[in-house]
Amino acid sequence: MQKLAIQGGYRLNGEVRISGAKNAALPIMCASLLVADDLHLSNLPDMHDVHTMVKLLQQMGVRVDSESQAATFNAAQVDKLEAPYDMVKTMRAAILVLGPLLTRFGEARVSLPGGCAIGSRPVDLHIKGLLAMGADIHIEHGYIHATAARLHGAHICFDLISVTGTENLMMAAVLAEGITVLENAAREPEVVDLANCLIAMGAMIEGAGSDTITIVGVAKLHGASYRVMPDRIESGTFLVAAAATGGCITLTDTRADILDNVLDKLRETGALINVCGDRISLEMTSRPLAVSLRTAPYPAFPTDMQAQFMALNTIAEGSAIVIETIFENRFMHVQELQRLGAQIEIEGNTAVIQGCDHLDGAAVMATDLRASASLVIAGMVAQDETVVDRIYHLDRGYEHIEAKLSALGAKIRRFN
Ligand code: UD1
Repeated sequence: MQKLAIQGGYRLNGEVRISGAKNAALPIMCASLLVADDLHLSNLPDMHDVHTMVKLLQQMGVRVDSESQAATFNAAQVDKLEAPYDMVKTMRAAILVLGPLLTRFGEARVSLPGGCAIGSRPVDLHIKGLLAMGADIHIEHGYIHATAARLHGAHICFDLISVTGTENLMMAAVLAEGITVLENAAREPEVVDLANCLIAMGAMIEGAGSDTITIVGVAKLHGASYRVMPDRIESGTFLVAAAATGGCITLTDTRADILDNVLDKLRETGALINVCGDRISLEMTSRPLAVSLRTAPYPAFPTDMQAQFMALNTIAEGSAIVIETIFENRFMHVQELQRLGAQIEIEGNTAVIQGCDHLDGAAVMATDLRASASLVIAGMVAQDETVVDRIYHLDRGYEHIEAKLSALGAKIRRFN
């Protein structure tokens, strides 16, 4: 199993290009199932989840021609309407093939995702929405088996805001008969990116980015070329790493307009932030101040940035309260941060962090994708060496992270 060894105490300095967004790329790749023509995607990040999604689509019969950071998908010859357990269990986003397969081919068999390190993460809202659109759904042998002659439009109000739930139903609705209204929809920028790609393919969608999305079903979509948006979580992760190490970095090919909350929190730590077009610069000249935060659906503070800010808070001046409202078990990184000397107390979904003046390097274990990022940040500020084990979590969702961090001056190496 691969690990990262990080020598702490080096400031991040320099420029780094932000990759395409994992959470936009994955649903957009699934949208290729909606059409028999070519869907050409650029700015695809080179990371495990994207490779897993390519494999899954290929298993179904989708032809994929990959170039560097781009690929053309053609789903003219799909012959297997199934996402097997071994794929879904490693990448929950595989559930996103359910809506497209069902609406275009009238059938889909998708494994239930099962448990997850950060919480139970059911898919009941996806299923409920498809039932409202006329699907016949049975859960058998751990699989969701859905059939429908043709889905019809429906008025669906989500009980809870779900990002992939909104995306799955939006993709199902684009080829359904009639009008679908999704209420209490997720407003995440990745939902908007998917909607924009679908619109480029001929779909009729209004309201993406608000909590009510209206989709008028069409009989057929056509091929398109689409560039995936920049990754706001990768952007935020590098900015927090720079702030924690007292560094000075510039992100290129990114977007500040979708990072408002994260940038505000970074300013609260004392970081100087400058935005110019698609570039964001951050400079930290003093010890960071601790910042309290509460995760919530977009546009509020993203749960996918909670662990990284927790790492920053561990060495900040003062104390902070971090409240996690999206996932029930997303404090797995806390015990690992404590191994480095962090002072954190947890009560339910609330963590109280007392900043200390230094962390001590130690061996730690990554438990999920963003927890891994927080341990890498902590390793960069800790004294001596930190070894992060189980970094396959990190490789799932960050493109060439140690190469990017090394180029910024971090002392980080991968070994077996
Ligand atoms: C997506 C993101 C993930 C991010 C999360 C929250 C992708 C590929 N992943 O995950 O990185 O952390 O949004 O911003 O885009 N829920 C239900 N029933 C459902 C669906 C969700 O109860 O059918 C609950 C979940 O357990 C969770 C909450 O709703 O507590 C939000 O989950 P959701 O937005 O669906 O997360 P994902 O789409 O899986």
